[in-house]
Amino acid sequence: MKSLPICLTLIVDKIQWDPKGRTFLITCGASGLGAGYALAFLNHGAKRVAILDIAVEVGATAERLNKSHPDKAVFISCDVSKEEDIAAAFAAALAQLKQIDIIINNAGIMVDAPNMWRTACDVNWQGVVSFSLKGINHMRKDEGGAGGTIVNIASIAAISRAGALPIYYGSKIAVLHFSQCISEKPFYGNTGVRVLTMCLGGTDTPLMQNLGARSYDRKLGEFIAAKVENDGVTFQKVESGVKAMVDMFNSGTPGSIWLSIDNKPVQDISPKVNSAFEGFEKLLFAP
Ligand SMILES: NC(=O)c1ccc[n+]([C@@H]2O[C@H](COP(=O)([O-])OP(=O)(O)OC[C@H]3O[C@@H](n4cnc5c(N)ncnc54)[C@H](O)[C@@H]3O)[C@@H](O)[C@H]2O)c1
Repeated sequence: MKSLPICLTLIVDKIQWDPKGRTFLITCGASGLGAGYALAFLNHGAKRVAILDIAVEVGATAERLNKSHPDKAVFISCDVSKEEDIAAAFAAALAQLKQIDIIINNAGIMVDAPNMWRTACDVNWQGVVSFSLKGINHMRKDEGGAGGTIVNIASIAAISRAGALPIYYGSKIAVLHFSQCISEKPFYGNTGVRVLTMCLGGTDTPLMQNLGARSYDRKLGEFIAAKVENDGVTFQKVESGVKAMVDMFNSGTPGSIWLSIDNKPVQDISPKVNSAFEGFEKLLFAP
């Protein structure tokens, strides 16, 4: 079969990337950014949205969304740190939506504290891998699927360093690197599954509260919390992160990596990330 000319392929892709008429699965969508993404994509014409969360308030979030967008939001209870929950929730979402076009792996908690870091690794990292693999299996065109998009939420933690939160930062670079590796060419050409990565800067949600208790080391946590307060650090608005998500969704090419900080327009940082890795690869593989 003759392949389409490049400009036609791009137009066909853009139509597929239109949220209108598409179904979404969003993890951790009860509050914060996830709830914002759900509303924004419904406002942009999404067919239905499944919100997965551990929190009971999520029922209220779905109810609120159904008031403004009748019968469009579904709540599915899911603890993203548990594989059996993920499997059951994915199956439930599929039963409700019939087809899943977009997965937003928004699940993430910032707790390096001794009693929570394992759970945080499961939520931030294993949960993303599990939903991504299930999504790819379901969406891949070379196995009879309809294609789709998987959005993985990383953070500026993936492209910077902080001694107080090594576990959170480590899990976010894992998300970024997993997304980069899995979307390496010819993945999109074979599967029709677009993988996008979002690196958010500090955004005004509950995740950025109570910073003193989030480190593995109490003194470091308190130091960071005091510094944030003394320096008068402010976080971008949730609406800016949500707009960044929609803008990235509408134009992001397969495998691209995006940055949303300081209420600024979202920025494609793929060339910068790629050039850093190309530098290392030259060092490793140059003859
Ligand atoms: N807020 C920020 O500054 C910021 C910056 C960079 C990246 N991010 C990332 O954005 C994503 C969303 O963050 P947010 O700021 O909206 O967080 P949030 O704390 O406001 O919301 C997190 C949601 O996750 C849910 N949740 C917690 N544990 C869960 C579990 N085990 N299973 C299912 N749901 C669970 C909570 O009920 C809540 O609804 C995360 O991946 C986070 O790492 C946030």
